[in-house]
Amino acid sequence: MKYAYFEGDFVPLDEAKINIMTNSFHYGTAVFEGLRAYWNPEEDQLYILFAREHYERLLSNAKALFMDLSFTPEDLIEITKELLVKNEIREDVYIRPIVYFKDLKLTPKLLDYSPEIAIYTYSFGRYLDTSQGIRVKVSSWRRNDDNSIPSRWKVAGAYVNSALAKTEALMAGYDEAIMLNSQGFVAEGSGENIFLIREGTAVTPSLSQHILEGITRNAVISLLKRELLINIEQRPVARSELYTAQEIFLTGTAAEVTPVVEVDNRKIGSGKIGEVTSQLQEVFFRAVRGKIERYRSWLTPVYEKRPA
Ligand SMILES: Cc1ncc(COP(=O)(O)O)c(C=O)c1O
Repeated sequence: MKYAYFEGDFVPLDEAKINIMTNSFHYGTAVFEGLRAYWNPEEDQLYILFAREHYERLLSNAKALFMDLSFTPEDLIEITKELLVKNEIREDVYIRPIVYFKDLKLTPKLLDYSPEIAIYTYSFGRYLDTSQGIRVKVSSWRRNDDNSIPSRWKVAGAYVNSALAKTEALMAGYDEAIMLNSQGFVAEGSGENIFLIREGTAVTPSLSQHILEGITRNAVISLLKRELLINIEQRPVARSELYTAQEIFLTGTAAEVTPVVEVDNRKIGSGKIGEVTSQLQEVFFRAVRGKIERYRSWLTPVYEKRPA
């Protein structure tokens, strides 16, 4: 990738650097987003998925941290499109915007500092194994509580919690961690929301369960209802329900729809990708590339004039 957007300008990526004294680098007081853009080769078009939703979440998270930016979601979408065009992207990419306090000052606080925004892009294929499914471990680390560092905000410092859980899982030979919340109910993965299929119903932790309000989670809820005609229960989910579920899958911008085939050495269903999960994957992966007309509203095309 040639360019990044950095503090008001498009600059060569290796010039987009912060000083080691930068306040947010020390205290994790930054908020970020992860977006994907999908390349559609038949249309010669790049589609940003849920651009508005991601930038609305970024700006509302920033506001909660007293980071007043003068941008609207539309401004940030335009900047992102321009960055993708400048980088001549014709493949699937990940887009990482981050808002931070650029002040070269100590003291962990949120007042009287100057927020800045940077955006960069990088090539990104699959994050987890969406075709075979993954093995997960219930973590010994509990999910951040809403009254410590709210899980519903994508705050940089909160991701130490994710890193601890993910590392523990990887070191124990698993692919991903599932964290319980401080009350002992299932919360989410280190960077994914979780769904279980039980007796034909999709069950997912409700929004009060100390989870990120995933944008993919929302999209998947509507696909399950509208396309697969499956009922959804949003409620506290007990750990033991994981072991007896017929199917489990994770959702997220990075994880897309990732099947879970094993939890703590217990096979989920037959230990292969379940029927609901594979139908959901099929419709999700077509929708994100603009191949289903009714979900084109999820997408922002990047190239104004499609190249001949
Ligand atoms: C902790 C956590 N949960 C869930 C998700 C999924 O959220 P989304 O679908 O908005 O990417 C993410 C990724 O952003 C995350 O970091």
